[in-house]
Amino acid sequence: MEFIDIHSHIASGLDDGAKDLQTSLEMAGAAARGGVKIIIATPHVNLESLGESLDNLPLQLEELNRELQQRRLAVRAYPGAEVRVNTALLHFEEAPIHLDSLTLNHGGKYILLDLPQMEIPLCAEEVFFHLQLAGLTPILAHPERNLALYRNPQRIMEIFQKDVKIQVNTGSLIGYHGRKAKSLGWYILERNLAHLLASDAHRPLNHGLDFHYLYQNICARTSVEQAQLLLLNNPQAVFSGKTLENPVPAISKKKRGWKF
Ligand SMILES: [Fe+2]
Repeated sequence: MEFIDIHSHIASGLDDGAKDLQTSLEMAGAAARGGVKIIIATPHVNLESLGESLDNLPLQLEELNRELQQRRLAVRAYPGAEVRVNTALLHFEEAPIHLDSLTLNHGGKYILLDLPQMEIPLCAEEVFFHLQLAGLTPILAHPERNLALYRNPQRIMEIFQKDVKIQVNTGSLIGYHGRKAKSLGWYILERNLAHLLASDAHRPLNHGLDFHYLYQNICARTSVEQAQLLLLNNPQAVFSGKTLENPVPAISKKKRGWKF
């Protein structure tokens, strides 16, 4: 199996991810061992304080891919971004940046969004709608790590129903982000609210980089169909700018926690 990781902080020196090229190469090595062939580099972007990180990204990935080729590592990195949900996104047209550079693989279709860790900004739903009006498909990164959503998971269903795509972190499912994120991550999968899994890796020791292991884990816990959708079909669709499939019914072998 060849996996695509649509969310990674593998690009170095741009945010709190890889600190240098050597770390990027170690992350790529760990991903390759886990079956990943394509990584979308998604440095944090905040339109309220736009730095130069995205300007440097394509050149930096060229250098990284050159090194990967020389080391005969069969994995390549492509450009993207992880954009913070805030009111600045309601005026993204005025930002000094081309919209495509905010989208995954610069395809002009999918935009990866993240929330602050503790709350859901009041503007969130307006932001999703504004982006959709502009022809973009929002993907919400790791809702299972947001404390407000942990306390009120009904909101995840509401976001799902607004046609926002849901990306859960692989690391959350194996406890890398703590007990709460693990519980809510599996809850999202068991309720068929997830469209995608991705590593959100910031360093090589993130065990969520082993996609083979995660694939087997999901097959055992929910279904093969869900594992294929979340780790193979939908990441491929995002990478190539095609339409995502909606979650398939998963047979939960262990329902837990909250009720909608
Ligand atoms: Fe991230």
